[in-house]
Amino acid sequence: MNILVTGGAGFIGSNFINYFINRDDVLIYNLDKLTYAGNLDNLKSIREKRNYTFIKGDICNSELIDYLFTKYKFDYVINFAAESHVDRSILGSEIFFRTNVIGTNVLLEAAKRFDVKKFIQISTDEVYGSLGPTDLFTEKTNLSPNSPYSSSKAAADIMALSFHHTYGLPVVITRCSNNYGQFQFPEKLIPLMIINALNDKKLPVYGDGLNVRDWIYVLDHNRAVELVLEKGRVGEVYNIGASCEMRNIDIVNLILKKLEKDEDLIEFVKDRPGHDKRYAIDSSKIQTELGWKPQTLFEHALYETIDWYINNKEWWGKIITGEYQKYYDIQYGNS
Ligand code: NAD
Ligand code: DAU
Repeated sequence: MNILVTGGAGFIGSNFINYFINRDDVLIYNLDKLTYAGNLDNLKSIREKRNYTFIKGDICNSELIDYLFTKYKFDYVINFAAESHVDRSILGSEIFFRTNVIGTNVLLEAAKRFDVKKFIQISTDEVYGSLGPTDLFTEKTNLSPNSPYSSSKAAADIMALSFHHTYGLPVVITRCSNNYGQFQFPEKLIPLMIINALNDKKLPVYGDGLNVRDWIYVLDHNRAVELVLEKGRVGEVYNIGASCEMRNIDIVNLILKKLEKDEDLIEFVKDRPGHDKRYAIDSSKIQTELGWKPQTLFEHALYETIDWYINNKEWWGKIITGEYQKYYDIQYGNS
């Protein structure tokens, strides 16, 4: 299998490559623009593998994409590449629509011309919007995205499905809930709180901290992507989630407990504009059809993740200077 993985230097994509590269039957081509979120350190342990190739480039560059499809004759495309952070999309949305919509369009057009066997669009549960206290997102839930980020992802989903409908392009969409694990960029809730706590900095909890997210360990997500690649039916959408709903404040408290830090570090700050209240996934379709099941227990994997950040200060120490600090000051003030 010749697989084009886009965004493979980011959090989920790099975890996917580190996991999947061990199969003998795959050649992986990782195309990544190396934005602030892309980090080749995530792939250090596999970069010399004979079945791995890295290409620095932008998915919006149609000439490059054409050249790469011609040269490498990809059988499969897994599109992880995206601008992925909601708060940044609220600060400025243009790059989100460029990468997440135009970039996906460039890839879909090439996949159509070059007859790929399957195109997996890595989407998100955020395209469904926000839930009341008891419902679950199913694949039939109407799309109702609320942030510039999620609306750009929803646009890409609709476009990808239209390529299936109109041209018969073998597209499959996955919509996963909130991931956590090693190599997650520290703008996201869990790594941000771990690193701030390790540095005895305030932990900025938005609003009342009672918003709910449905957490999944990144390897469970990637095992699901593997099954979708092997057996997912084209033209279909698969929700992926581990039925692990948590309030933000409870996660923050678990992190403080594990690090033996004081609750005084918590600071309730101005809420995220348009903040979605609750996400929760019904993943029965992928469980029944493809035999997927999450294998990881939340508290155990969260504690392993915290240990990973404790043991990999060099990895995040390089990140939290420069561009990150500028972003942090704009987003949180100088707290
Ligand atoms: P990330 O921000 O950590 O990584 C994104 C990667 O894409 C980076 O390596 C970046 O350099 C690359 N990239 C950005 N623009 C590019 C471009 N124009 N061309 C080529 N590469 C580009 O994101 P992540 O958290 O790993 O998310 C990966 C995918 O999974 C995204 O599509 C996201 O929407 C989706 N998703 C994320 C989560 C989550 O909890 N993080 C949950 C569900 C779905
Ligand atoms: O649901 C899947 C989505 O999960 C993915 O599509 C996105 O790419 C990913 O970023 C994530 O989006 P969220 O907005 O849910 O994740 P984030 O880590 O930014 O925030 C999680 C919750 O924590 C959310 O309710 C906002 C809150 N939060 C976040 C940050 C960064 C805080 O209270 N304080 C913070 O500083």
